[in-house]
Amino acid sequence: MKAKKKILVTSALPYANGPIHLGHLVEYIQTDIWVRFNKSIGNTVVYICADDAHGTPIMLKAKEQGISPEELISITKKEHEKDFKKFFINFDKYSSTNSEKNKEFCENIFNKLNKSGHISQKTISQFYDEKEKMFLPDRYIKGTCPKCNAEDQYGDSCESCGATYSPTELINPTSVLSGTKPKTKDTNHFFFNLKNFKNYLIKWTKENNLQPAIKNKLDEWLNDNLNDWDITRDAPYFGFLIPNEKAKYFYVWMDAPIGYIAAFEEYSKENSELIGIWENENIGEIYHFIGKDIAYFHALFWPSILNGSGYRTPTGIFCHGFLTVDGKKMSKSRGTFIKASDYLKHLDPEYLRYYFASKLNDGIEDIDLNFEDFTKKINSDLVGKLINLASRCSSFLEKNSNFTLSEKLENDEKFKDFINQANEVEKYYSNRKFSNAISKIMQMTDNANQYINQEKPWSLKDIKKIQQISTQGLNYFRSLAILLSPIMPDLFEKTKIIFNEKNLKWENCFSPLLNKKIKKFTVLKTRIKDESIEQLKSNLINNSESSSKEESKMQNEIEYDIFSKTEIRIGEIITAEEIDGADKLLKLSVDIGDLGEREIFAGIKKFYEAKNLIGSKVLVVVNLKPKKMKFGTSSGMVLAADSEGEIIVIEANNKIKNGSRVK
Ligand code: MSP
Ligand code: ZN
Repeated sequence: MKAKKKILVTSALPYANGPIHLGHLVEYIQTDIWVRFNKSIGNTVVYICADDAHGTPIMLKAKEQGISPEELISITKKEHEKDFKKFFINFDKYSSTNSEKNKEFCENIFNKLNKSGHISQKTISQFYDEKEKMFLPDRYIKGTCPKCNAEDQYGDSCESCGATYSPTELINPTSVLSGTKPKTKDTNHFFFNLKNFKNYLIKWTKENNLQPAIKNKLDEWLNDNLNDWDITRDAPYFGFLIPNEKAKYFYVWMDAPIGYIAAFEEYSKENSELIGIWENENIGEIYHFIGKDIAYFHALFWPSILNGSGYRTPTGIFCHGFLTVDGKKMSKSRGTFIKASDYLKHLDPEYLRYYFASKLNDGIEDIDLNFEDFTKKINSDLVGKLINLASRCSSFLEKNSNFTLSEKLENDEKFKDFINQANEVEKYYSNRKFSNAISKIMQMTDNANQYINQEKPWSLKDIKKIQQISTQGLNYFRSLAILLSPIMPDLFEKTKIIFNEKNLKWENCFSPLLNKKIKKFTVLKTRIKDESIEQLKSNLINNSESSSKEESKMQNEIEYDIFSKTEIRIGEIITAEEIDGADKLLKLSVDIGDLGEREIFAGIKKFYEAKNLIGSKVLVVVNLKPKKMKFGTSSGMVLAADSEGEIIVIEANNKIKNGSRVK
């Protein structure tokens, strides 16, 4: 027997500023399958993850919602955990990077790095938003690309030509937060001296378990200049303060990976497996599953930080590609952004696990969720072949022997030949070649169905023979369900119930179950109906419409009571102006008779030229609470309606009144 392994496994920590979506799930499903498989074959595995709770986007999102960042991350964590559970992602510990333990580890690691001469300080010049009183991260600055002149590009890179640059190189930089022109301002930052680790990284790259594509990328990076890494962010920020500093925080990417250690430490409070693994390589292996977008952080900074502060480094990093939906990048406006919770309203979570597994291997190529292919794989392979095998055999056994398995198989040799192929499946799981594992399992399923088709139990009279054939068929199914269990843990649970085997284990797939009464076969999985896919898709389109209306979220039904509180009056637009720096808003001044003139901001700039609105009579909600906006206060709302993506201001003309009123 092979020696058992001890393994600590992590998935990347999802940001706490948004919901889990199907892109994330590629990673968590991939990791969970690998973890379940390794546990099945008797390895000791601890699977750790956490919410990544710090950073500017989280701080701003909380502010926008009028809650504290702590409240936001606590709500989000609950939602994330709920989604993960529904998809059968089985973490041994799910924590948050905003924990006491993590703070302790961060300070400790920083102090050690500092003492060993791996931290330096430099004064740098950064964009500062004077209105919002904060330094601006690159993503919060927009302007014209210095290379290709494309407008409206982010501060770090151009989506049009792919150039990367520093935000100060942008032409006409503007703060995304206030729309004002940012000033440059000096600030003192701490830097991690990555180049001190060049030799270590060259060695680490050679000796460790990295995919060829990632190795190449690393060689490329290592041949380039290794720049010092800025690990500071100025207040206001949501994160951990740097020791002995009052308004300087650790950059989220500094404390996030340290969260792997902290979460493991929390796990260790109640469990004894793998204790000491971060200090001592002999205790076991450490693997990080990540998306290819964050390889730089995990393969350069992370091993260096660990090495510089006296920790062991990971045994390997397993990267995967990105998810596209029907060939397109996941995006809200295209209707291809699928939240885990939206998927669950329409489809079985195990179908996604099966589908992703059928597309995943050990490489970093992107993965496409093609709904036609998805439906086909589930309906014809999973349901049509595997589930059908069980339901056919079960009904023969019911009719002929009241659900009792025979004392021996109809053909032992055939079963042996069949199950010998399981070794191959094990090898594929072990090497993360899940698509090969599924192909093999499906090939075995075809063999099993061929066996039934050849033996034709329906045409026989010999009851004993029929019982033996169905026993053989059901044992094929039982073994296949075990082999699929890392991918389909729920199907496996149901299989255990049918065969009355609470403790069914991986190794049981090699020996058939005989001479035992089993339960009636209940429908384990059903075919996907086209309507379910249609409904999911139309759900996405609704989502994308509501998300494109920035301020107003799509609401559910409201009671008449609430609606009747809105007071609508007719007003006349007196002036209409464009606002510098606002790409959606027009500033209107509207005369509302006895209520006087009101200043109202309307998000209609894309659809109307300001001057054409002057003189129009419009409907105005006059009792809306005044809203403070970046450019002033809006006192009321001019009613407009969404017409197939175009916003149309509702005009108060009296055509109906003139021609059609009952006198
Ligand atoms: N918080 C960081 C990770 C810190 S780890 C110390 C982060 N979070 S994330 O929420 O943006 O992404 C979490 C993981 O999901 C990453 O590994 C990322 O690559 C992966 N994916 C996010 N979107 C994805 C797709 N569309 N497709 C596949 N994986 C994707 O990065
Ligand atoms: Zn460009």
